[in-house]
Amino acid sequence: MYKTHTCGELRSEHVGQTVKLAGWVHRRRDHGGVIFIDLRDRFGLTQIVINPANVSADQFKLGESLRSEYVIQIEGVVTHRPAGMANPKMATGEVEVMVSRLVVLNSAKTPPFVIDDTGRDVDENLRLKYRYLDLRRERMTRNLIIRHRFVKFIRDYLDARGFLEVETPILFKTTPEGARDYLVPSRVHPGMFYALPQSPQQLKQLLMVAGVERYFQIARCFRDEDQRADRQPEFTQLDLEMSFVDREDVLNLIEGLLTEFTEAHAELHGKRLLFKPFLRLTYEETMERFGRDKPDLRFGMELFDVTPVTRGSEFLPFQAAHVKGICAPGCASYTRKQTDELTEFARKNVAKVLVVLWHDADGIRNTGAGAKLSQREKDAIVTTAQSKPGDLIMLIADNDRRIVNEALGELRQEMGTRLGLADAHVLAYAWILDFPLFEWNAEEKRWDPSHHMFTAPKDEYLAVLESDPGSVRSKQYDLVCNGYEVGGGSIRIHRREVQEIIMRLIGLEMEDARRKFGHLLEAFEYGAPPHGGIAPGIDRLTMLYCGEPNIREVMAFPKNQQAMDVMAGAPSPVYDQQLKELHIRLVN
Ligand code: AMO
Repeated sequence: MYKTHTCGELRSEHVGQTVKLAGWVHRRRDHGGVIFIDLRDRFGLTQIVINPANVSADQFKLGESLRSEYVIQIEGVVTHRPAGMANPKMATGEVEVMVSRLVVLNSAKTPPFVIDDTGRDVDENLRLKYRYLDLRRERMTRNLIIRHRFVKFIRDYLDARGFLEVETPILFKTTPEGARDYLVPSRVHPGMFYALPQSPQQLKQLLMVAGVERYFQIARCFRDEDQRADRQPEFTQLDLEMSFVDREDVLNLIEGLLTEFTEAHAELHGKRLLFKPFLRLTYEETMERFGRDKPDLRFGMELFDVTPVTRGSEFLPFQAAHVKGICAPGCASYTRKQTDELTEFARKNVAKVLVVLWHDADGIRNTGAGAKLSQREKDAIVTTAQSKPGDLIMLIADNDRRIVNEALGELRQEMGTRLGLADAHVLAYAWILDFPLFEWNAEEKRWDPSHHMFTAPKDEYLAVLESDPGSVRSKQYDLVCNGYEVGGGSIRIHRREVQEIIMRLIGLEMEDARRKFGHLLEAFEYGAPPHGGIAPGIDRLTMLYCGEPNIREVMAFPKNQQAMDVMAGAPSPVYDQQLKELHIRLVN
């Protein structure tokens, strides 16, 4: 037996016992001829003491040869630390182990970075190249633990409610969720490809036709899209589908799951819920009030509409059809340079003009736009903005209301971050409901599905589905938290004719639709039950519970921002022979 206890286990009650421990040399200090080592394993740290009085000269010499990250095993007696030497910050801080026998199980090269910190200052590619060392950090271990607890909680919660976990294939056919597919060439069928699923969407719907009724899967999904802090090429969803349900059933199930997990494991992750029950907003309301379909609801700074005030204004920007703004508290101290930065920020979000007004002790300052507005306009803006002396008012004007809302939404998010308005210990879950079924794709001149093409329109819009697609609202719901979309789902179409109309509207030729989705359309003709589901993103949720800024921190072996695995070197070239077997010739 290598160890009788873990390095996180020993307490005063173990004093006097002879124990064996094994782990890594975390820290080493020599004090007056005595060696102190913090020995680390996944469970914690224990101080061990190599004293020449207790061990042979050879053993002491061995002790002196120990370096960071050496793997050792020790045997010794647990003792109280001397008076005043207890370390309340360490779980094992009341005791230490007096070593009587030391075995070096393996040496270690000097690691490329210190492991004894959070790693936040280390170059990320270096961390990823040596991920097996990076994961030794306490912070990373904690992230792995939270992720494990979360997934375990999900499995138990759903099992208790009659759900079956069913695995679905990775080698499959295109299942579009708006990204590019990863393709896998077939050796056996020259010129043919599997597509890795962007989600198990079609398969879970087929499981409903199969009568599974309550399905879930901790499912790996693959999407070839640009990387962001909350996006990886492969990621994990809690994929879930239910038959004979309406929207409320799905929302209540997920709300119960996340509420119970948050509360049951508060000590582990240190977060609390802001809304109980979760807040509910329609898509339209969230766009009008927050300018984003995934708002951070931990702070206010809502968008306000000054269009009624600016109508008929002499000031050129105000002649746009829509003028809205936000009011940043305490930001009247911003210099021109700072507001120019914000103008640039708004431009990146395609807003042409950002009108900035400084609210001083005696009202709107008479500079810039402030000098060009009438007193009546300024007073009315201050009233609508509910701004106070010391605040900065930012307005965006455009003929396209969507541009106004979206640009302000990003600006609000940016100001929230700059001003530290969001409480890091709070989770602000909300449901966004009543999305439009379609979005107009101006480039391709066609309707794209807002969620995916399997989402059902709300019943009252069935009649205008073809005559006025832009007005149709859907049975989609998104779950958002702290500025992220953490889950999305819908009640589905379960009748072939409706599914075919949608396919036609999004520009899929019937021929193409049958080739790609014929199996699903056919299945709908064999008694498909009404069904619906959702897929919360495990990585994004874990990131929020861990308080991390990106999902790479909660994945054991993520890809870097260029979608590469820098540790193993993937993707990588392959042998000519392999390409030949796959009937592939490279162009260059
Ligand atoms: P959707 O495409 O909205 O829906 O995805 C659901 C959730 O998956 C997570 N997610 C991602 N996480 C990390 N990296 C990515 N690249 C990534 N893409 C998505 C998000 C998102 O909210 N089949 C539907 C679900 C359904 O209708 O039941 C689907 O996949 O948290």
